[in-house]
Amino acid sequence: MSEIAPVVDAAHAAPFESTDDYREAIERMRAAAAAYYAGEDIVMDDATYDALFARVAATEAVHPDWAAADSPTEVVAAGGGVVGDVVHSTPMLSLGNVFDEDELRVWAARLEKVIGRPVAGFTVEPKIDGMAIAARYVDGTLVQVATRGDGQAGEDVTAQARAVAGLPGELRRPVTVEVRGEVFMTDDDFTKANELRVAHGGAPFANPRNAAAGTLRAQDRAYVAPLSFLAYAVHDLPEGEGLTHSAAMAAIADLGVTTTAGSPAGMPQCTTVDELVTAVTALGALRGKLGFDIDGAVVKADAPADRDAAGSSSRAPRWATAFKFPADTRTSTLTAIEVQVGRTGVITPVAVIAPVQVGGVVVTSATLHNFDDLVRRDVRVGDTVFVRRAGEVIPEITGAKLDERAADAVAFTPPEFCPRCGGEIDRSQKRWRCMQGRACGAGESLAYFAARDSMDIEGLGDKVIRLLIAAGMVTDPADLFTLDVEAVAQLDRMGATSAGKLLANIEASKAQPMSRVLTGLGVRMTGRSMSRRLARHFGTMDELTGATVEQLQNVEGVGPERATTIAAELVELAPIIAKLAGHGVNMVEPGIVPASERAAAAATDPSERLPLHNEDGSQMIVVVTGSVPGLTRNEGNEAVERLGGKSSGSVSKKTQLVVVGDGAGSKAAKAEELGLRIMPSDRFAALLAAHDAGESPTLDDF
Ligand code: IVH
Repeated sequence: MSEIAPVVDAAHAAPFESTDDYREAIERMRAAAAAYYAGEDIVMDDATYDALFARVAATEAVHPDWAAADSPTEVVAAGGGVVGDVVHSTPMLSLGNVFDEDELRVWAARLEKVIGRPVAGFTVEPKIDGMAIAARYVDGTLVQVATRGDGQAGEDVTAQARAVAGLPGELRRPVTVEVRGEVFMTDDDFTKANELRVAHGGAPFANPRNAAAGTLRAQDRAYVAPLSFLAYAVHDLPEGEGLTHSAAMAAIADLGVTTTAGSPAGMPQCTTVDELVTAVTALGALRGKLGFDIDGAVVKADAPADRDAAGSSSRAPRWATAFKFPADTRTSTLTAIEVQVGRTGVITPVAVIAPVQVGGVVVTSATLHNFDDLVRRDVRVGDTVFVRRAGEVIPEITGAKLDERAADAVAFTPPEFCPRCGGEIDRSQKRWRCMQGRACGAGESLAYFAARDSMDIEGLGDKVIRLLIAAGMVTDPADLFTLDVEAVAQLDRMGATSAGKLLANIEASKAQPMSRVLTGLGVRMTGRSMSRRLARHFGTMDELTGATVEQLQNVEGVGPERATTIAAELVELAPIIAKLAGHGVNMVEPGIVPASERAAAAATDPSERLPLHNEDGSQMIVVVTGSVPGLTRNEGNEAVERLGGKSSGSVSKKTQLVVVGDGAGSKAAKAEELGLRIMPSDRFAALLAAHDAGESPTLDDF
């Protein structure tokens, strides 16, 4: 994968140009669905499947005559060879998808139109990323469990399902009922399952969904891997006629079955679409903290009258939809495995991958955790790998697609010696460490600190640094400020004069601006100009180290991946920063008012407000699309910053202003669709000119 993989945008998907391409997409989707339901290694990641689905649907809208009867838009994705012989009491349907707030609003409006009245109420529950089953209880005893299969008939998995937590063998009362829901593996159970599998000589599962599907369908296994169940629907509940969904789920929870409503995600009830948006957003924020994988929220009409009035298509009910979260697992190609040595000497393998969007962020590198894990997973350069990013955490590689591995792929060999200093490695713990510890990287970090672009300390070259480290006088940059002139004078070929000069230069460097201190600290993913930008934005080291990942993204050129890394690096560097400050090193950028003071001033005093400040002093989110007269693209973005705004690359509901110039394309169209504030680029240029001329223009003047 050399390009950035597509992001799903169902509303703007491009139709296929030929019937051949359309058919081929359907075939690829069928193959992927078959592997998915069989619990085999994933052939296609969810986001790619959803993107193809959107294109197939878009094609059918433009060319209804091409529509194939077996199109995935018409039928529940079939499990190919895995369809079994248990016929479902009523078809097990799939769900339609929405991908953002706007699409959710469109869905709700359409539902109201179909039923001809406002929806009485909605429920919101987690969309569990597992395997759907139907479980039949007769007089309170579990008698049959079947997978979804092709929606009409599924495979009998009764024996395997008996060990599933949350699906009791006996209900609390002798009721005859069918419960439907998802069998899945919790994160903890996934770890246990993989340990068991590896201990039995197998390759680890790539992800919990795969593990759940594989375990549920495996008939003769030498070990039992733990599975869980959460119900999301019930059929034929005695006296269940007329019950709302929420009441019916409460009734089966009362019989002893675990339900989505009873999970930590809960099942909020909403009456308005605004409430739905809040509930879905809240669930999105919980993702990654639930202890099991969810890939979205399921929104359902709660009242049976609304459901009956809405009905279902052959594929999915109209009274429910899945609000899909950005895929947290994608596939990409592993281009290299780098071995990094951290400041404290910790040695870690890091995956370099072809750029791919995961969880809404472009990811180019991911952690491989530790060498034991890497050897166990047997991930090799050239492999197609699964890249997972849950929430704000550092992306990780969870496994490789073994069926696509090149025959000549070479297994990775962990280093024998520290790749930085060549010293011995301490392998006594999972996290390997250079025996030299902090001293291992000291030469490199001191040279960086003293360099011309950083603290510019004359006389502190590589040779002197080596002598200082060898004499045990320094292990980190802060130690430079505790050097004793007489001890330094004793070093090989030093003498009193050179030592005196060196210490005077070190002392003088304490007055360097904060941007140079920051450059000298060598924060990963920042260089000289980014350090300068960070310093100029925050003004003081305290403000910078106290900034959240979100606040860091207010700096031009800092996206989510860089912001996460910078925040983590600053935490790691905190002890050294504190030591430097303690020795009197300047931690302020001259001439810059700290970000918090600027915001506070703009909030209280309108004359302090820049044209692109909001009333509360925060930065307006601005997208520039097309050309701005007299400015390059980069200058256009810088102009936004200069005027107090935050420049963003994509238009969404959150965008507050869209500057539209010649050559603007879909972003301008989307801005209009969303009803956003739009400003022609020549007026933006005039606003900038007025601001640069020292006037105090406001946005409304233009
Ligand atoms: S309701 C007729 N609720 O998602 C409505 N489905 O993509 C049937 N799923 O086939 C589905 N969590 O396997 C529903 N809380 C939930 C769900 C859920 C996961 C699965 C289910 C369904 C698939 C559709």
